Amino acid sequence: MTWNPEQYHRHREARSAPVRDLMAMIPALPYRDVVDLGCGTGEHTRALAERFRDAQVLGLDSSTEMLAQADASGLPGLRFGRGDILDLAGDYDLMFSNAALQWLPDHPALLARLWERLRPGGVLAVQVPANHDHDSHRLLTETANEFAAELGGFTRFGTAHGASPVLTPAQYAEVLDELGGVEIVALSRVYPVVLPGAEGLLDWTRGTALVPYLSRLGERDGERFVAAYLDRLRSRWPGERVYYAFTRVLFTARKPG
Ligand SMILES: C[S@@+](CC[C@H](N)C(=O)[O-])C[C@H]1O[C@@H](n2cnc3c(N)ncnc32)[C@H](O)[C@@H]1O
Repeated sequence: MTWNPEQYHRHREARSAPVRDLMAMIPALPYRDVVDLGCGTGEHTRALAERFRDAQVLGLDSSTEMLAQADASGLPGLRFGRGDILDLAGDYDLMFSNAALQWLPDHPALLARLWERLRPGGVLAVQVPANHDHDSHRLLTETANEFAAELGGFTRFGTAHGASPVLTPAQYAEVLDELGGVEIVALSRVYPVVLPGAEGLLDWTRGTALVPYLSRLGERDGERFVAAYLDRLRSRWPGERVYYAFTRVLFTARKPG
């Protein structure tokens, strides 16, 4: 997938509230090795390195485009690396991930895998968007179905109706308990974003949800796809203001030890 850092950061302010909440949920412990999974352009990885000055902090991402903007300067413990979250190596005592794990399937299996890389006493802290039931996503899946031939039948979550891998807070809590986690906190919160009409909503999704579709389409089909999606958004939100009730799930847990 080809990410566009400029497009993603057009809504930086709206996307910063949930990560502030996630940061506040991290217990103040003397972490030695920290990893930011799906770090993107690395601002939150830097914030972690500034907060945990004695730690070695790794920002891991699979996107060359995003990593090209990551800045490790002035912080000796901070580094960035290209790789897949599924191939994570090493052991960590803080595993952090903001708005990235929703791109990976089967979260019970994924968390079990990450848990193995967490040292005893370590903390896992995750935020994922849980917005898949929102009309903006339903209409995106509808558009993908219309373009099934061009997309080779691809939809974001691999099924015709687009089921999401993201679980409820209660389900995450149960998975973490099964793994032996303690001090489990799991919650969901609405972070509203007010956008200027259907075009504003399109601009928001361009930075994230549209990425896997546009990455698979050529320029012409991509433009047709965007126009067909925008038509649907305009029918659903004909006015000049869209109140986008964006739901996210946040959770933290500690491994005993
Ligand atoms: C929405 S961005 C979030 C970036 C950053 N964490 C933030 O909060 O600004 C999602 C990031 O996850 C990365 N990503 C998605 N799947 C990945 C995978 N399997 N392995 C590594 N990175 C992945 C993407 O490349 C992208 O940079």
